[in-house]
Amino acid sequence: MLNTKQLLSALLAAGVLALSGSAGAADFLADRHGARGVECKTCHQTATPAPGAVVSSKACDGCHGGLDKVAERTKDMVPNPHYNHLINTDCQECHKGHQQSQNLCGSCHNLEWKVP
Ligand code: HEC
Ligand code: HEC
Ligand code: HEC
Ligand code: HEC
Repeated sequence: MLNTKQLLSALLAAGVLALSGSAGAADFLADRHGARGVECKTCHQTATPAPGAVVSSKACDGCHGGLDKVAERTKDMVPNPHYNHLINTDCQECHKGHQQSQNLCGSCHNLEWKVP
């Protein structure tokens, strides 16, 4: 049995991990959203997504306001990953839910981005 102090430090450690986004066993975008209280069905429209499920950018827009809004957040980057010559890029072409995200632009340009 854990005593209260052990329990508290275990909870604290878990909280710190979730906040710092450090590489844990489950630290993909969907896990970090889960830690913020975003449920499966908020992204998936169903609480029980099937294998092969894909997520529309529309599910992201509800909270993040679409490509133009996130482009404001990264406006200091040159080039801006959210404002570019590939019109209407899906969020998921870079941001993956349950696997390592991908640097789409890096396949053609020498841009060393770490996509969250
Ligand atoms: C932040 C949005 C988000 C949340 C929250 C989320 N997912 Fe996903 N999910 C995705 C995206 C994006 C994909 C498309 C594949 C990928 O990017 O990994 C996906 C794909 C999937 C797939 C198909 C994977 C495959 O390889 O066939 C399953 C199953 C799934 N999600 C289950 C869940 C479950 C269960 C939860 C809740 C615990 C959840 N997802 C929460 C974004 C999310
Ligand atoms: C229910 C609301 C909600 C939905 C839906 C949602 N997000 Fe988020 N997302 C958040 C919150 C809250 C944060 C943390 C604060 C912030 O950075 O905006 C966040 C943070 C992020 C971050 C910053 C990296 C990180 O993990 O902290 C990325 C990237 C991101 N979201 C991408 C996505 C993508 C892509 C989708 C769609 C697949 C999506 N989000 C859907 C609420 C949401
Ligand atoms: C071409 C690849 C690409 C696409 C497409 C893309 N992103 Fe991003 N996104 C990035 C990169 C790279 C970063 C990291 C920027 C940095 O280093 O600060 C990022 C960061 C973010 C962040 C965190 C911004 C911050 O304040 O740090 C959010 C939120 C986000 N993306 C949401 C989205 C959403 C929502 C979409 C779809 C509408 C989207 N992204 C489409 C590459 C992409
Ligand atoms: C399929 C290959 C490909 C991908 C993927 C790609 N680009 Fe490009 N990009 C090009 C080509 C080709 C040019 C034209 C080069 C020239 O005119 O010298 C270009 C030009 C550019 C330019 C300079 C011209 C302009 O339009 O301002 C920027 C900035 C740029 N790309 C950013 C990006 C970003 C950001 C991404 C990711 C969202 C990306 N590219 C993805 C092929 C690609």
